Amino acid sequence: MGRILDRVEACVRAIRARSDLVPEAAVVLGSGLGGFAEQLRPVAAIDYREIPGFPVSTVEGHAGRFLLGSLGGKQIAVMQGRVHYYEGYAMEDVVLPIRVLGRLGAKQVILTNAAGGIGPGLAPGDLMLLTDHIASFVPSPLIGPNEDALGTRFPDMTAVYSPLLREKAKAAAKGLGITLKEGVYLQTTGPAYETPAEVRMFARLGADAVGMSTACEAVAARHSGMEVCGISCITNLAAGLGDSPLSHGEVQTAADRAARDFTRLLLALIAAL
Ligand code: HPA
Repeated sequence: MGRILDRVEACVRAIRARSDLVPEAAVVLGSGLGGFAEQLRPVAAIDYREIPGFPVSTVEGHAGRFLLGSLGGKQIAVMQGRVHYYEGYAMEDVVLPIRVLGRLGAKQVILTNAAGGIGPGLAPGDLMLLTDHIASFVPSPLIGPNEDALGTRFPDMTAVYSPLLREKAKAAAKGLGITLKEGVYLQTTGPAYETPAEVRMFARLGADAVGMSTACEAVAARHSGMEVCGISCITNLAAGLGDSPLSHGEVQTAADRAARDFTRLLLALIAAL
């Protein structure tokens, strides 16, 4: 374990030993988006296992590689795969990579995920820009002694998802003729999908989409002073709203189908950052 900052610094040193590229921005790729990484000609591709203390994913469809390179004239870091709280990692481990990205120099982070659609206007295959989130159903990643060198004890969460980055994402989507919906993302711990009663509750609480990642990462990123953009790929209607049971296979297939537009949108957004 040890102090968070020491762990973060150890990761930064291991990455720095492979490349001195300072990323201006970072992208965390969710389910099905691994192919985005092919757009990048990396100067370094580091397996998560090679970074000391870095959490390693156990989920199918989540490769674990840390890439540094340039794209659209920007120096960026790409996380191909992330870990989830349901894998058994402590929240502190789940968000460690976000803090590493910040410490490497990234000022902006784009978080992507697959999510179940709850809001009336959302259908499988839609891309949804996060306007806000509900993280109240998962433990805060900031619980524990505060690391003042990373951020303040009581960070403000009024505008987690940067209004400026949201405008840029919307402009990028418009320029590409891609429909970009907007809504509130709610994070659950998973790994079970929700029950229909839970989905009805989440709808009443104001959630438009539900997933098992991202909000905790956004909280850690804001704590570290990074600007955040979040985009969900709606892979299915949340439980009880469609007529078939949910499966990870269905989620992956839908994410793969939407990957082309998602990749185009990310490329345009990164170029516009
Ligand atoms: N619920 C939770 N997480 C998800 C879903 C869902 O319906 N779809 C993709 N990730």
